[in-house]
Amino acid sequence: MHLRGLAWGRASVPAGASTGRHEAHELRDGDPRRYAGRGVLKAVHHVHTEIAAALEGVAATDQPLVDRTMVTLDGTESLRRLGANAILAVSMACCRAAAQCRGLALHQHLAELSGTGSVSLPVPQGVMFSGRGGAAAGLSFQDFMVLPIGARSYPEALAMLERVESSALEVLRQSNTAYRVASDGALGLAARSNRHALELTVRAIEGAGLRPGEDVGIGLDVAATEFCDKAGGYRVDPEGSPVRAHDLAEYLRGLLDRFPIVSIEDPFDEEDWPAWSAFTASVPELQVVADDLYATHPERARRGVTQRAATAGLMKLNQNGTLSGTLEVIRRLREAGHRCIVAGRSADTEDAFIADLAVGTGAGQIKIGARRGGERLAKYNQLLRLSEDVGWPGPLGLTTPARSHPTAL
Ligand code: PGA
Ligand code: ZN
Repeated sequence: MHLRGLAWGRASVPAGASTGRHEAHELRDGDPRRYAGRGVLKAVHHVHTEIAAALEGVAATDQPLVDRTMVTLDGTESLRRLGANAILAVSMACCRAAAQCRGLALHQHLAELSGTGSVSLPVPQGVMFSGRGGAAAGLSFQDFMVLPIGARSYPEALAMLERVESSALEVLRQSNTAYRVASDGALGLAARSNRHALELTVRAIEGAGLRPGEDVGIGLDVAATEFCDKAGGYRVDPEGSPVRAHDLAEYLRGLLDRFPIVSIEDPFDEEDWPAWSAFTASVPELQVVADDLYATHPERARRGVTQRAATAGLMKLNQNGTLSGTLEVIRRLREAGHRCIVAGRSADTEDAFIADLAVGTGAGQIKIGARRGGERLAKYNQLLRLSEDVGWPGPLGLTTPARSHPTAL
């Protein structure tokens, strides 16, 4: 996008694999002869024609107006006519161009747009093991993450992630555990069960010379919608029979007793609101994160706050569809005392915008995926650059409700 004068901006947008039902619509061409139907020529065409015409003369520095103009032009609730992928790419490119025009770094401009009092580096939720498809026969959970909660700076946090990853490879080698790299760069494990993967995670942390639960906590993305059947049963054990939400909650609390878990994302289906509220009330020290449940949607986030369904929201730009819309959800959630975790998608691009977004909003946490693959390293590295000027958030109060930690398998 070019502004009058010399300023310009460019952006690319990611796609998800475990997408929630309430996400903004990603417009694909559907032509089976081209990229198996996943081409985006229609979306690109909309950028060059309708969207470009509607934004002619609109001030790029007025991000809410830019975004409102595109949402109104689209005219649908889920942005399915023009495509949220088309709209979001323009929204982000416009933000970059406006920052350049104002002579500000992107994170500084984002800080002003979001009204954040203080910018800070986020604690990364590093995805280490994955239960996505392939090798992961015994796993129902999607992500096994490590959070360097004891780090005193972002560079130290990054170094801790690297130590745990190297140690994890050694643990897998020693235990003869097969794996293959999953779509988000994490190691898709042939582990026997979720418990087994958690045991391997603890061993990886200890093998790195770090203290589980103190230097490094564990985060889980249960992604329960993926294994919830239509009748409301959860197939938490892929080989066993489906269980009710109440039993899944018991199972999760059992894991909290045994492992140094500080954060659980999507513990229940995206429509199972009562199960969320009951679980969150039962584990007050735990960070309970809504990804598919809120889908970065203002109405769903409002409902979540009212019903105390979670204590944190995963914020994904492409679930919402515009930058202003995402900033608005972040603002509302934080006013209500929720934590926010800015997140990328499993099918991401080399665009590092979310690194600046996490810093500019002072979100406190970021979920990028594994530290493997250029599209994810671009974000980890942008945070490293920003760490030369921006401070660390300090203790986030992420703690583990665990009573005892295993030391060996
Ligand atoms: P997705 O998953 O990007 O594949 O939807 C990421 C997540 O669940 O956090
Ligand atoms: Zn998720």
